[in-house]
Amino acid sequence: MSAGLILAIESSCDETAAAVVQRGARTLSSVVASQIATHARYGGVVPELASREHLRAIVPVVRAALAQAGITLADLDAIAVTSGPGLAGALLVGITYAKALAFARNLPLIAVNHLEGHIHAVLLNERESQPDGQPPADPEPALALVVSGGHTHLYLARPANGSWTYALIGRTLDDAAGEAYDKVAKLLGLGYPGGPWIDALAQHGNPLAVPFAFSQIKPKLHLAGKPPRTKAARTAPIANLDPHFLFSFSGIKTAVLRYVELHNLRPQAESRREALFTGPDAPPRPTVEAALSCCDRQTLDLIASFQHAVVGDLMKKTFAAAESLAVRRILITGGVAANRELRARFTLEAARRNLRVSFPTLALSTDNAAMIGAAAWPRLEARDFAPPDLSADPSLALGR
Ligand code: KG4
Ligand code: ZN
Repeated sequence: MSAGLILAIESSCDETAAAVVQRGARTLSSVVASQIATHARYGGVVPELASREHLRAIVPVVRAALAQAGITLADLDAIAVTSGPGLAGALLVGITYAKALAFARNLPLIAVNHLEGHIHAVLLNERESQPDGQPPADPEPALALVVSGGHTHLYLARPANGSWTYALIGRTLDDAAGEAYDKVAKLLGLGYPGGPWIDALAQHGNPLAVPFAFSQIKPKLHLAGKPPRTKAARTAPIANLDPHFLFSFSGIKTAVLRYVELHNLRPQAESRREALFTGPDAPPRPTVEAALSCCDRQTLDLIASFQHAVVGDLMKKTFAAAESLAVRRILITGGVAANRELRARFTLEAARRNLRVSFPTLALSTDNAAMIGAAAWPRLEARDFAPPDLSADPSLALGR
């Protein structure tokens, strides 16, 4: 029997990552080179810069992953790589490198959907916590909420012959939840990515101070066959989805902006925040205390209220979908799953409803390659390999 060692490579957005994962259940190494410093001054990911940074990082990151795992290319059983969705140029760096390694070492190549990877981040954690590393003999179907900077998608994940199948249940019609976090942080002069800053500052504000409301998506909107407006929305068609499970996060950014304008929230404090995060003398890593010292009470209340509303909307639709599908288990994954209020409130509500909710560890919530290696394992067992002409698919969909 082979050792079941997979080298996984992930380069779909602004993290160059490589990991060695054994039998989808044991992480031997997981290396992530973040490009945050490169993109921070622009307040978002610049695709051309991302490709260039991946080119710089890919060789040292893969070498580090092999070295930390204590193995060489000769020990591997397969190479796995994210083939989409993501930025075309960024994906291509990982795919081209993975293909070259697979060809040179005569190893099978496995293409992994980034969204399936995020779901497997939770499953990997669960397997790692089992004494024998084996998945539960009879895994339950689960409702998976993938909530990141690029996605807010709900899937029904069903176990099938040692692997999983996915059905799309709901998704955002416009911005992803993480995108809303990043845009609101940017308009308030906070750092990039905005999620962790809003998470930290929201602890100091009153979440009920500003009553943001999400209106129910109307059936006619989703039946009107409107073309999706963003990349996130294009990765999955909305026909046949229950409008109760559709999200929309583009409006809340405008609502926050209107609130700032209407209440004339201290412009001096905003320029102090901008100086702290993007100014010429900005420290490499501003502290939460420094950020707090540039925020008045009203701004902290606004931040806390924004987060409270976003988490509330994610909860409302996720629990409604779980109830409608009669699933007892919820997986929440992707960068926004690192959010403290989200974890606390989902955990409390799941307990109240007698449902099981799981999150990945913080390191596995944001982009990484260990989740790609875990998702690739059932494919290696099924000998489901990528064609030699594998290419990037920026809007690759998951499931039906
Ligand atoms: O999964 P990820 O690393 O990359 C994508 O596939 O998009 O997610 C990144 C997103 C960013 O929008 C970031 O602001 C958000 O996750 N994020 C958070 C937190 N940590 C990261 N959002 C809210 N609270 C956090 N603690
Ligand atoms: Zn991601």
